[in-house]
Amino acid sequence: MSVATSPLHQIQFLKCPRFSSKSHFRPRRFHSLTQRTIPAISAVAAETELHTQQDQSVEADVFACPICYEPLIRKGSPGLNLSAIYRSGFMCKICKKSYTSKDRYLDLTVTAGLKDYTEIQPARTELFRSPLVSFLYERGWRQNFRQSGFPGPDEEFKMAQEYFKSARGGLLVDVSCGSGLFSRKFVKSGTYSGVVALDFSENMLRQCYDFIKKDDTLSTTNIALVRADVSRLPFASGSVDAVHAGAALHCWPSPSNAVAEITRILRSGGVFVGSTFLRYSSSTPWFIRPFRERTPQGYGYLTEEEIRDLCTSCGLTNYSSKTQQAFIMFTAQKP
Ligand SMILES: C[S@@+](CC[C@H](N)C(=O)[O-])C[C@H]1O[C@@H](n2cnc3c(N)ncnc32)[C@H](O)[C@@H]1O
Repeated sequence: MSVATSPLHQIQFLKCPRFSSKSHFRPRRFHSLTQRTIPAISAVAAETELHTQQDQSVEADVFACPICYEPLIRKGSPGLNLSAIYRSGFMCKICKKSYTSKDRYLDLTVTAGLKDYTEIQPARTELFRSPLVSFLYERGWRQNFRQSGFPGPDEEFKMAQEYFKSARGGLLVDVSCGSGLFSRKFVKSGTYSGVVALDFSENMLRQCYDFIKKDDTLSTTNIALVRADVSRLPFASGSVDAVHAGAALHCWPSPSNAVAEITRILRSGGVFVGSTFLRYSSSTPWFIRPFRERTPQGYGYLTEEEIRDLCTSCGLTNYSSKTQQAFIMFTAQKP
């Protein structure tokens, strides 16, 4: 939305629904959020700080502050659009923290912009931050998953799409997207109003950007690349229609925090689809199983029962799953 020139217009605009009539991205279900008003004083302050120009918009965004979960205010062109997001500035009017695109992705981690503090995550997260692993991931690493029963990206994508039927036309967040193998497929399917490819690894996101840029058949007008921690997702509660997390749960520092967070951002009826390696498959002999117990250093492989327990304890319903050797794809829905 173009910003009106009079301060009164500005206040009215910021009191208006979060997505302007010109917004490229329009989630279908934002009822509770559209009813929320932004106090006039902070609205003017936010507008002033963002130095609005004629051809730009200042509007509450689909992205939220990872600290307080308030929708961010964007300075720049609206929409889930790679280049628009790259050229925009984002700010939380509560925390007064600014977020900008780094390299090719928007950094929405709590640590974004910090000068002295750096955070070291567990090895299973840090591994994928390496440039080499990120480079190799779609060039052989991922193909090896077949040996553990993963059906392969095309078939996994089809399975996920089946589970996501009720989320069609909505916003999909591909959590822990890696180099964007599935994010690209979700965009190409044309099924969603927007796709957010989200990962903690800077190098995975750079790979993701390169793959997107090399693919002429892929539109960049409804995809965003975001760096975030799965335990601190930068979206308002109840604002997302679908969350996909392929081959990721075993890499997360805290699967319980992650599933709770995914549940928080899903709208009522929203769908979560995840896949991972099981700690053991039905064919794993009983005497091997004790050796597969989890350690803080290794991957966090769960059992089928643990995954179901995790989802249901976070309040998700309609849990179901498909397995093949150590591969599991599961789905659950926010009531
Ligand atoms: C095995 S890759 C999966 C990539 C892709 N989704 C797929 O299906 O092939 C796991 C991903 O989880 C990401 N990851 C690990 N810890 C994370 C965290 N705390 N928050 C978000 N993503 C994380 C890694 O950076 C990595 O890209």
